Amino acid sequence: MVKKNACIFISGEGTNLKNLILKSRIYNFPINIRLVVCDKSTAKGIKYAKINSIPLLIINTHHRLFENKVLLLLKKYNISIICLAGYMKIISKRFLEQFKKNVINIHPSLLPKFKGLDTFNRVLKNKEIKTGCSVHYVNEKLDAGKIIIRKSFFIHKDDTKETLRANTQKLEYISYPEAIINIFKYN
Ligand code: GRF
Repeated sequence: MVKKNACIFISGEGTNLKNLILKSRIYNFPINIRLVVCDKSTAKGIKYAKINSIPLLIINTHHRLFENKVLLLLKKYNISIICLAGYMKIISKRFLEQFKKNVINIHPSLLPKFKGLDTFNRVLKNKEIKTGCSVHYVNEKLDAGKIIIRKSFFIHKDDTKETLRANTQKLEYISYPEAIINIFKYN
């Protein structure tokens, strides 16, 4: 199978990046990770790009300049899909119009519930029965694009923000690869 080239955008820990790098080594997983983009020079996740010798762009500059530079690299590396993994900036409409290919994101809630930040606190406050994660296409609105996959688990009365985060992340490591497989299933 001919794998598609992927670019992962990160801002923080990069554990989803780490997981996707591992999955991409499986012979029939549909993507190879050819580029990592990070908007924070202190992000811990940078190390996964370095250890695995994946080209890395760390750029902390005016948003428009950032996007222009990234668009050039996406062309250079023939990128077919961008996976946002803990990336903290909103992707502009202009960027999406210029890239024109798949841009997806993973979010730690059952969208459309709890868009934005501080999801685990809000889930607890709202006394939800279930929570989980969602992988969705990115549009210019925050966490609002078409959903590709959602996975959930039940919340227990002694759950805390920390346990919810840990359980959600476990599900993320299954859901993100599954969503990518779904996207490329028929092409
Ligand atoms: C994940 O929980 C993801 O849902 C959210 O940011 C977190 C990133 O974690 N968008 P990591 O950087 O992949 O460890």
